[in-house]
Amino acid sequence: MRWFLFLAALAALSASCQSRHLLLAPAPAPGPAPTPGPGPSLPSVEAPAAPAGLTLAEVATHSSESDCWVAINGEVYDLTAWLPQHPGGVAILAQYCGQDATSPFTMQHGRDSEPQEKLPQYLIGNLA
Ligand code: HEM
Repeated sequence: MRWFLFLAALAALSASCQSRHLLLAPAPAPGPAPTPGPGPSLPSVEAPAAPAGLTLAEVATHSSESDCWVAINGEVYDLTAWLPQHPGGVAILAQYCGQDATSPFTMQHGRDSEPQEKLPQYLIGNLA
């Protein structure tokens, strides 16, 4: 009887080890990934055109106090809202509306930080 119990215990232990091995066995390698089908083709969306540079001819059409664009250092600024606030006065700046004002701006404000800091908020594009 003892032998029988011993053998039975041995058999039970062996079975439990095998099942543990089964449990610890690595998961089967995944099969080949499903190849994606062509799927619904999306309508081709045109990339928005990069903003073209503004020409001096275009700048020249904004040459009044009520519609004042100027080009400075290759950039175009709409200074219409700034004109009435300009500490140097309206007239001195308004005479350059519609033009390339790089020279007068540099001569007057080339070393001034405040005018240089104010400019970017009026930027509307670059000069072609
Ligand atoms: C394009 C030609 C421009 C001319 C000929 C001009 C001329 C002047 C003049 C004569 C003054 C008075 C300086 C003084 O009292 O000592 C002045 C002041 C000033 N201007 Fe202009 N300006 C021009 C453009 C601009 C622009 C585009 C900005 C900014 C967006 C600007 C911003 C200022 C500021 C902040 C002051 C007062 C502080 C300072 O003199 O630095 N100006 N400007």
